[in-house]
Amino acid sequence: MQNVPLYNRIEKALSQRESSHRLRVIPSFKNAAGNIDLSTNSYLNLQAERSISEEAAKLAEARLHGNLSSRLISEQSGLFTELENEIISWKRCESVLLYNSGYCANLGILQAVCARDTEVFCDRLNHASIYDGIALAGCKLIRYSHCDMADLEKRLSASSAKEKLIVTDTVFSMDGDRAPLADICSLARKYNCMVMVDEAHAVGIFGKEGRGLADETGVSGEIDIIVGTLSKAVAGLGGYFAGSSRLREFFVNFSRSLIYSTSLPQNVLAFDLAAIRHIRKNSGLGEKLLHKAAAFRDCLQKIGFSTLNSSTQIVPCMLGDDNAALDLCRFFHSRKISAPAVRPPTVPDSTARIRFSIHLGIEDDQMDYILNQLAQWKKQNGFLS
Ligand SMILES: Cc1ncc(COP(=O)(O)O)c(C=O)c1O
Repeated sequence: MQNVPLYNRIEKALSQRESSHRLRVIPSFKNAAGNIDLSTNSYLNLQAERSISEEAAKLAEARLHGNLSSRLISEQSGLFTELENEIISWKRCESVLLYNSGYCANLGILQAVCARDTEVFCDRLNHASIYDGIALAGCKLIRYSHCDMADLEKRLSASSAKEKLIVTDTVFSMDGDRAPLADICSLARKYNCMVMVDEAHAVGIFGKEGRGLADETGVSGEIDIIVGTLSKAVAGLGGYFAGSSRLREFFVNFSRSLIYSTSLPQNVLAFDLAAIRHIRKNSGLGEKLLHKAAAFRDCLQKIGFSTLNSSTQIVPCMLGDDNAALDLCRFFHSRKISAPAVRPPTVPDSTARIRFSIHLGIEDDQMDYILNQLAQWKKQNGFLS
């Protein structure tokens, strides 16, 4: 293989990752078992809720096989419509379209909506799936500084493009801060843009019944495209578009990740449906989670760590240096705590961190244990953040 040029490049890329200690690996299930898990995105811990699993099992009717084709060719389950209707009533929107994941939703929606001449104004810290959708569309990417409305306006006013789209995460997955949605919507009105938001980390937590940050901010009606995922607080799998019926029709016709991929199986739809019903019935879960996260964040700051502008259940513990982040991650691991070190290229250079994902499955005594361990590591290493 040594003489095949493509292999040379693959080898070089892997060697570079290895020598900079940035090689990604998939942690094994065995290693993580029994740990206090601060890496999960299951913020409401719904996988542990027996009533949801029991309800899902009933809805699934023991049909564990896949959908056997793209949904556009044939639908093997009545739960597609039932789940879409549940989300319509939950989000109080006109229409919903399910995708296989949040990643597929962002990819398929941006690819369909954006033409070559469309200018997409994208927060620098948006999720990779948004960047990938923009790249697939081949449209013009204009990145604005993170949550910086003056910078966004400067770029909008300098644009002569006919078609403009502003796209933002509502809760940022690595910093745990929130997008200024009201300001974004008002700039969109001023400059005649479409608005797309990704509620992946807000669904189930913010807003009435956990509808999301757009609902909490009171701007749902001003947003053209709302994307959500069912893989985080909902603890299932799948992504969705929420918005107008006409846009849904457009995506059914032009969104390639939907058209050309086998759709979700009935058992997954069943879990999603049961979990959403549980969230709607048990109001206050999001609020409880945010209180827990705020208390944890306060303690982290008292120990002396920056948590950036986090105001959600995602709490970064800033280390800056890659090696410090790795060292702390290993230290935690040896004490049965799973908390991932997030390093460049996932985050900008010199902003390596531990990403704490606070969830309802963490008990108060576990929280104390984690904070004590963190203080001990800091003392041992004389680390100054
Ligand atoms: C902001 C954001 N959007 C989309 C996704 C992708 O969602 P999914 O895991 O359902 O593919 C993620 C996943 O981490 C995310 O953080």
